[in-house]
Amino acid sequence: MLLKNHGVFERHTMVLVAGILVVISIGGLIEIAPLFKIDSTIEEVDGVRPYTPLELVGRNVYIREGCYTCHSQMIRPLRDEVERYGHYSLAAESMYDRPFQWGSKRTGPDLARVGGKYSDAWQVQHLRDPRSVVPESIMPPYAFLADNEVDTRHIDKHLLANARLGVPYTEASIENAARDLLAQADPMGDTAGVEERYGADVNIRDFDGDPKRVTEMDALVAYLQVLGTMVDFSTYEPEKAENLR
Ligand code: HEC
Repeated sequence: MLLKNHGVFERHTMVLVAGILVVISIGGLIEIAPLFKIDSTIEEVDGVRPYTPLELVGRNVYIREGCYTCHSQMIRPLRDEVERYGHYSLAAESMYDRPFQWGSKRTGPDLARVGGKYSDAWQVQHLRDPRSVVPESIMPPYAFLADNEVDTRHIDKHLLANARLGVPYTEASIENAARDLLAQADPMGDTAGVEERYGADVNIRDFDGDPKRVTEMDALVAYLQVLGTMVDFSTYEPEKAENLR
């Protein structure tokens, strides 16, 4: 009976096309419709802020050098991952990442919570020569980053582009981008502005061990040291996230 009726689809191309469309749209609706009923797919958490200009430059270096080809930045809610890397990643943690760096390729470990795991000196030494600290490492060296001074000329435009995409940079952040960038790596400088715009717990220090200039090494280490450290888990209630579903 069913097979006999199926003959209609097999003999008429247009009927087959219409049938395919009906079946596919049922699947699509089941996936998409529930999303219209919730206000946001991002849970509310305290602490996540836009990257400082220095961290943003570090993120660009990370993308430029293809670190994502070996490192993911998303801890899945599975027991082995949570035990190894820490609390599973929340959507809110990458809401200002454009583009996000979740990834699925892990030649090296996940970096979503690497911030604060090692000292700056360890990070710099590891980036200069990975095998000097982890003898079995297959990670390539990035010593040249310590010789590349950060070009501050276009950083305000970069913040502006992010702001246009919805990252809440204020006008003051954009205007002072170049100044804030240099100040964050110079604890002797005037850092009040950075703290005012990005919060009192921003890491302000010389990251690469060379206080005379601000290099891509400073920027990359500043970025690595903030990864996964923003969310205040004491205020995060997983039940609230459950309700979104
Ligand atoms: C060819 C693959 C590869 C690339 C490319 C790569 N890494 Fe790695 N990375 C590894 C491996 C493997 C390890 C584990 C061994 C080690 O610690 O060196 C690692 C470890 C690390 C660690 C220590 C993580 C931890 O929790 O112990 C950091 C931080 C890191 N990489 C950052 C970077 C950054 C930043 C870049 C880009 C500039 C980068 N990696 C590029 C393979 C890679």
